Amino acid sequence: MIGKEINAEVIGVYPNKVKISVDNLNDFKAGESLKVGSYIRIPSDDGETILISVIESFSIEVSTEGKRKHLIDANPLGIIKDGKFIRGGDSIALPPKEAEPASTREINDIYQSSVELTKRLEFSSLSTNSAIRIPLDGNKFFNKHIAVVGSTGSGKSHTVTKIIQTAVNGRGGDYSLNNSHVVIFDIHSEYRSAFSDANFIDVSNLVLPYWLLTSEELEELFLDSDSNDHNQKFIFRESVVENRKLNAKCSDVDKVKIHFDSPIFFDLNNVLNSAKSKNEEVIDTGEVYASGAKQGLAKTVQGSLYGKLTNFVNRLEHKINDSRLDFLLGERSKKISFEDTIRNLLSYQEDKKSNVTIIDLSGVPFEVLSITVSLISRLMFEYGYYYKKIRCDSNPNEKINNDTPVLLVYEEAHKYVPNSDLVKYRASKRSIERIAKEGSKHGVTLLLASQRPSEISETIFSQCNNFVAMRLTNPSDQAYVKRLLPDSLGSLIDTMPSLRAGEALLIGESIVLPSIVQIDPCDENSQPSSSDIPYWELWKKEWKTFDIDKIKSEWFK
Ligand SMILES: Nc1ncnc2c1ncn2[C@@H]1O[C@H](COP(=O)(O)OP(=O)(O)O)[C@@H](O)[C@H]1O
Ligand SMILES: [Mg+2]
Repeated sequence: MIGKEINAEVIGVYPNKVKISVDNLNDFKAGESLKVGSYIRIPSDDGETILISVIESFSIEVSTEGKRKHLIDANPLGIIKDGKFIRGGDSIALPPKEAEPASTREINDIYQSSVELTKRLEFSSLSTNSAIRIPLDGNKFFNKHIAVVGSTGSGKSHTVTKIIQTAVNGRGGDYSLNNSHVVIFDIHSEYRSAFSDANFIDVSNLVLPYWLLTSEELEELFLDSDSNDHNQKFIFRESVVENRKLNAKCSDVDKVKIHFDSPIFFDLNNVLNSAKSKNEEVIDTGEVYASGAKQGLAKTVQGSLYGKLTNFVNRLEHKINDSRLDFLLGERSKKISFEDTIRNLLSYQEDKKSNVTIIDLSGVPFEVLSITVSLISRLMFEYGYYYKKIRCDSNPNEKINNDTPVLLVYEEAHKYVPNSDLVKYRASKRSIERIAKEGSKHGVTLLLASQRPSEISETIFSQCNNFVAMRLTNPSDQAYVKRLLPDSLGSLIDTMPSLRAGEALLIGESIVLPSIVQIDPCDENSQPSSSDIPYWELWKKEWKTFDIDKIKSEWFK
């Protein structure tokens, strides 16, 4: 018997590719819409397994007789066996013969059966078929670091918002606040409009204790790093340690152990005064002038540091009096307790508890941005570290290291953790790199969003396990991201420059297949605020006046 005529035939199988030749494309499509990114099914000869592949490219071949053939290159993703999808396509029985478009149902089944209902995190649909929802394993998504990359306007901020909103709205029972904890470092004041219930912190109500800065950060902030002046360094260290000892509530034996980095309060003003007095020190020699205009007056000589600390004293004084730095050096920073610092940052205050903390950094002066981000990040990391320690010490069989795990979200991550070794980035880079390396096991995960992935520290980027790659147009960024992603993606990755707003390539352990998806749009009333100013509309309006006095008083505050 002659078998039915084969319209679409497999003509080549390679580890990373299947080639299919199609005689009549319309018959082949059979009503499904086919695009690059659509799925093809290839049953094995015995019908036991079905290879699922994704279309990478179409081409047309014209034979010498003028007959047209369509050639499809597809990337094998996995096989369906006994109704179950298994990732990896190496076990197809040869030779496969026929190919046809996979049905919506078949693809939907693959996604739906991939994640248990209780673990399901869902914020997108398949780009080629919006009827197919994309569930992720929420545990796997949040317990490994996440990278969201894409050029400006590709939809990063909306995506980050959607992910957090989905996380915060997820509930297993009937209570108003679930146990999700997200801290957003918001450099462009974008996120307040998206999270009305969030604990909102900006420079007006941010209080950070400077005395918890590391020794490197303290020196970076208060010493003139260019001058390499040993006197100022020595005096600064000495008086900080002395003052910490003075303020420590412990026995004299324990005071001996206090060092420059001990997390104990010290008063900046005392440090300033001590530097001042060294700078002005005159020592009484015990003699008196025997004659001349000063006759009878005590004879003095200048102290060894007399006049040598003027620059240091001025710098310190300048910082202490700089009202822009009040959130870090002001009176409130001296009074706030360690406990309240942590409560504020994690939104565990008595009067307000919240799933999301937004730290608006737009008012933080650039010269202290890195140490500010570093301090907050380090506090979050150490919170996780010590919390884990307590839990595991009290119960050696403890399996969950941290039962209130935290997600730290960095917008414009390349500004805090760049590939550069410049001093001005050192603090935040060190703190965040530590979280990248060790945070996951203590319940502290990173979500890094960036339009310039190639400028992000590779140490950090290579620790990310979940990628949301959006439209990326810059070739060096594309090349960098490609290098960090698995080879098996084939040419899926080449779609990056042509994605639409809100479209993304989702890759990682949390998803059954690398997929091009459309992220669900944010609700109209809870979107991140756009930095797009409608110039043309505004310019067409009548001449407007603005209040220069008001601007001045804000400016000169
Ligand atoms: N998931 C989405 N669905 C539809 N439109 C989107 C989506 N995400 C973003 N957009 C559109 O793209 C624009 C830019 O998004 P935004 O998140 O600000 O990008 P980015 O942060 O990458 O600069 C938004 O104004 C919005 O209209
Ligand atoms: Mg943005």
